[in-house]
Amino acid sequence: MPAFRFLIAILLAAASLQVHAADDSLYNELGGSAGIRRVVADLVPALQADARINATFDGVDMERLAAKLEEQFCEVSGGPCKYSGKDMTTIHEDLKVSRAQFNALVEDLQAAMRRNDVPSRTQNRLLARLAPMHREVVTK
Ligand code: HEM
Repeated sequence: MPAFRFLIAILLAAASLQVHAADDSLYNELGGSAGIRRVVADLVPALQADARINATFDGVDMERLAAKLEEQFCEVSGGPCKYSGKDMTTIHEDLKVSRAQFNALVEDLQAAMRRNDVPSRTQNRLLARLAPMHREVVTK
């Protein structure tokens, strides 16, 4: 039954390709690079307006921050980008960020996504990928 064996080999190869294909579904749900750019452009002024955390951003190059956030959200959502910023521990270690401040930023991001019509399921998917970063960001 060589034809049958051949069919099985094709099916196995296809299944393995499926497993190894990058999952960019979240990136696409976010609206790709344009969608991510919109959310970040809305988030950055919201961070500067949020009295719970804005003192931390005094003197920070917010254009660079926006560019790095865009890259990072693109990469963590499975998009075709490579984050080129500093590692999360190094950039945040002297900032004395508390858990409450971390949660404040997450809330601001969620509100920015809501304002840009990102579906709540998609919001939750991105937040779930960022949530473990509290280990690198929160030092207080
Ligand atoms: C999931 C949560 C967070 C993510 C994904 C995140 C991501 C980033 C990224 C990508 C950068 C830019 C790195 C670079 O310039 O190379 C950055 C910088 C920064 N982040 Fe965060 N961050 C988070 C939470 C926070 C929180 C909670 C605060 C403060 C309340 C904060 C304050 C800052 C500040 C002040 C900078 C600029 C530091 C500098 O330029 O020296 N971050 N963050």
